[in-house]
This record gives sequence, C-alpha cells and structure tokens, in this order.
Amino acid sequence: MTLVAERSRTAHDLIAEGAPIRKKATFTNIEESTVEDWAAITKYGVDEPSRVLKLCLEHLDMLRAPDHVYPVDRYEHSLQTASRAWRDGRDDDDEIIAAALLHDIGDFFAPDNHGEFCAAILKPYVRPQVYWIVKHHEMFQGYHFFHHLGGNRNAREALRGHPHFETCRQFCDDYDQTAFDPAYDTMPLEAFMPALNRVFEKPRRQVKERVQDD
Ligand SMILES: [Fe+2]
Ligand SMILES: [Fe+2]
Repeated sequence: MTLVAERSRTAHDLIAEGAPIRKKATFTNIEESTVEDWAAITKYGVDEPSRVLKLCLEHLDMLRAPDHVYPVDRYEHSLQTASRAWRDGRDDDDEIIAAALLHDIGDFFAPDNHGEFCAAILKPYVRPQVYWIVKHHEMFQGYHFFHHLGGNRNAREALRGHPHFETCRQFCDDYDQTAFDPAYDTMPLEAFMPALNRVFEKPRRQVKERVQDD
C-alpha cells in the first residue's frame, strides 16, 4: 500500500470550494495566522498587480522634464524605446514592450542602478530573460557612451556568454540607445496599455517561488 502525504488545505482551496470567507484577517502576529486569515487576505486584499501598474505609470510620468538636457526627456525616450521595439516586430511580445516602456522608471530613486530598481519591480511579471535585460541594460547601453566619461565601454563583455547576452545587446543597441530622436514618430502611451494590462494582470510567479529563486 502506498502512503501519500495528505496536502493541507490552502487559502486557494477554501476560495475554490466556495467556503464562507470572513472579510478580515484576525491575527496579531503572522505565526498564529490561519488558513482562514489567508483566504480573507487572498480574496479581499489589495488588488496588487493593478496597483503596481498604476505606480509604474506614475513613475513613468515623473520622467517628464521640460528642462531636460538630453535631446528628448526620459518620458519621451521611454515611449520611443517601446515604439521602436513595437515596430521591430515585438508588438506580440507584451513583456518586451513593458520592459522597453518601463526600463528607466528608477532614474529618480536609483540613477546609478536604475536597471536593478525596475527589474525588481518587473521580476514577478516577466520571464527571466526580460528580467535580465532590464537589470543589465545600463551596462549594455554604456557601450555607446561610457568612453566619453572615462569609463570602459566594453564593460558588458564581463557578461559575454550568458544566455541572455545577445538579446540584451540587441534590445539596447536597437531600441534603447536609438530612442533619443526628437523627430521620431513616437507612439502614445495608450498604444501600449493593452500589453501593460496583460503583463500586470497577475504575477507569473508567486511569493513562495520568488523566495526560492532569490
Ligand atoms: Fe536606463
Ligand atoms: Fe533608456
């Protein structure tokens, strides 16, 4: 006779069964929380993905800068990066479009490591390749200007051989570094909203999986 360990019922099970779910969790410390508490939180908690997208769009809007020094401000640059990706046939790749649009949103909070900032936000919603591109895009973008600042334009070579190296190089070379043209016919934000809504509809990976792979 084979013994199969019985799986405990989860909050998701209670919701799926249509069990009555109370409206509020009652614990005062998490160690004492119950599956009923987590069913309440899961069912009635904050609509997290849509809140994340709303905050991302607010951050994107913060990149508008009438007194910008670049040929276009970072808001226009972001839309233009997404436009170039879209017109390069990536219009069916929601995650790449989201990455192109949002890759610089950390510029205010973490100007010197804004790739990591945005990558951390996108991580639950995109495939590992897209996460990696956003996380490392500064170094790949640097190939086009680090030498003007006394830096090493070939710094990205330290990552050569990584499975996502070539895709990140192409993203930066073709979309990011070319997206500073004031004369370019940049697409409006509205054109990208369906893709963004799909990406942020729900996390691809849940909390317990995120803990395991960090
Ligand atoms: Fe950037
Ligand atoms: Fe950029």
